Amino acid sequence: MPESSLALEIKDLVLVFKDQKTTKVVLDGINLQVKRGEFVAIVGPSGCGKSSLLNLIAGFMHPTSGQILVDGEPVKGPSRNTGIVFQDYTLFPWLTVIDNVAYGMELEEINFLMKWIRPFRFRQLHRSYREKARLYLQEMGLKEAERKKPHQLSGGMKQRVAIAQEIIRKPSILLMDEPFGALDPQTREVLQILILKIHEQEQNTVFFVTHDLEEAVYVAERVIVLSQYKLHDDNEGATIVKDVHAPVFKSTDVKRTGDFGGLVQDIRMSGFAPDQKGIVEAFDQSYRNKADNQ
Ligand SMILES: Nc1ncnc2c1ncn2[C@@H]1O[C@H](COP(=O)(O)OP(=O)(O)OP(=O)(O)O)[C@@H](O)[C@H]1O
Ligand SMILES: [Mg+2]
Repeated sequence: MPESSLALEIKDLVLVFKDQKTTKVVLDGINLQVKRGEFVAIVGPSGCGKSSLLNLIAGFMHPTSGQILVDGEPVKGPSRNTGIVFQDYTLFPWLTVIDNVAYGMELEEINFLMKWIRPFRFRQLHRSYREKARLYLQEMGLKEAERKKPHQLSGGMKQRVAIAQEIIRKPSILLMDEPFGALDPQTREVLQILILKIHEQEQNTVFFVTHDLEEAVYVAERVIVLSQYKLHDDNEGATIVKDVHAPVFKSTDVKRTGDFGGLVQDIRMSGFAPDQKGIVEAFDQSYRNKADNQ
């Protein structure tokens, strides 16, 4: 497979946190490839390193060893190649909805000095970004809200704005860390369908972290399970407890059908090792629940 078809490549990634007393190996030898346009979900128990992995890809942290490539380029720090949506809505409270969405593009394209040195050109660009933002807002069902401020929006609406803010820039990879975790079940489902619709239209690459297996199976084409094991180690009489979160990356193919892939039809379990029995059962259960609801 040529390098260029990969949106994300992770090679032998290790992340260790150390203080005077403990050494914590959070991620241990992770290898992973995500193709351009793939929708991948990462599931795993709390504390297994999902957010750490996402923060490493985003360039907010540096790995202890190993390499992360986004679009074939090594990640050296935060970059506009990556878009991020967190569980907590990250909007600018003083801007209206439409300006929140247009802001990301402005920040990238406009040298701030231009605002002062070439005000006419700035106003022109500002207008075109707002027009584009308006189209995205319409797509996200937020047309009526464009002049509102974030504090006037519900949680679900805020999260739609946060998603629009990122996808409008067309990042190489959209990282989402439990983006619907704070929403009620109905809103959650509406946004899950919306994100699938966006994926269908934009063919964007999505790296979606969730601890909800059912959500993972529902939204993603490929589900990656991050599981953990613990090792106890003696070191010159002192006991160091290492939490080693093993790179048990087993993926399962989930075939999506229906207009926007809402119906999960086929889950192949063959990728799972016997010690993942619990997970396999959970997948199976999740699949059945979903099928029952159709
Ligand atoms: N800066 C840090 N210093 C030390 N330990 C850290 C640091 N950041 C995270 N950890 C530890 O790394 C482990 C993984 O944390 P992380 O937040 O990545 O887990 P997670 O899978 O996202 O969990 P959750 O599902 O609860 O969000 C945890 O044990 C956490 O305590
Ligand atoms: Mg987390």
